[in-house]
Amino acid sequence: MPYGGDMMTRGKRKDRISCVRTNPQHVAIIMDGNGRWAKKRGRPRLFGHRAGLETVRRIVKAAPNYGIKYLTLYAFSTENWRRPRLEVEGLFTLLQEYVDKETTELVKQGVRVRFFGNREGLPPEAVKVMAHCEQQTSAGKRLNLGIALNYGGRGEIVRAVQALAARVETGGLKAADITEADLESHLFTHGLPDPDLLIRTSGEQRLSNFLLWQLAYSEIYVTSVLWPDFTEEDLTEALSSYRQRERRFGGIPDKG
Ligand code: FPP
Repeated sequence: MPYGGDMMTRGKRKDRISCVRTNPQHVAIIMDGNGRWAKKRGRPRLFGHRAGLETVRRIVKAAPNYGIKYLTLYAFSTENWRRPRLEVEGLFTLLQEYVDKETTELVKQGVRVRFFGNREGLPPEAVKVMAHCEQQTSAGKRLNLGIALNYGGRGEIVRAVQALAARVETGGLKAADITEADLESHLFTHGLPDPDLLIRTSGEQRLSNFLLWQLAYSEIYVTSVLWPDFTEEDLTEALSSYRQRERRFGGIPDKG
């Protein structure tokens, strides 16, 4: 029975401090280390990305068994365009292949897919496949899979600010009345709960422009395991570490 943790959560998420926790409902992952994994084997970087894709399949399948309702994966950042052209093209071919081939399986698994990021500037064929996948999986109830693609956290916030500024310009909104909820409503992830846990593989301790707004109070777990080697067991280790955290949301420890 993998979905574990005591049910002693105190009060409502975000309002109160909680001590012993259940598993997170939203896990975000920076899937790092594909290139190093391939290099260690004397193979091209794309070989690592292909192996990374197998890990995506594994973790998507396993996640709902642990009570995870939302899984958000960082697949391609707005900064990743700086990589060699052949790697970028190869990554898009892989992504497209995954989305195209996997859609039927994702529907079977009850997975709802959403892509976060700018679609302008993406290959039109990729945009088509993404829209098809979102539409086909839209009834999925078991897991909400977010794939951040051509995504950057700062760009996402700028885009939201532009949308709010446009509303102010047309008189629909007063600048002084703008709330966090207003800004949130223009994020790619609007309406979804913030990640409870961020996992980053391969040992790097950075956010790399991922979900900057949404990760404000997330717990962070870094493992030295490279993404292609990341297993269900590694996921359970991350979840177990999370359950031992004390989330304070800016408050002080609850002694009562
Ligand atoms: C980081 O490793 C990984 C990426 C930039 C791409 C991640 C993409 C996948 C795993 C494939 C598809 C994903 C989905 C959700 C369909 P890196 O290349 O930076 O590795 P390095 O730090 O060792 O060089």
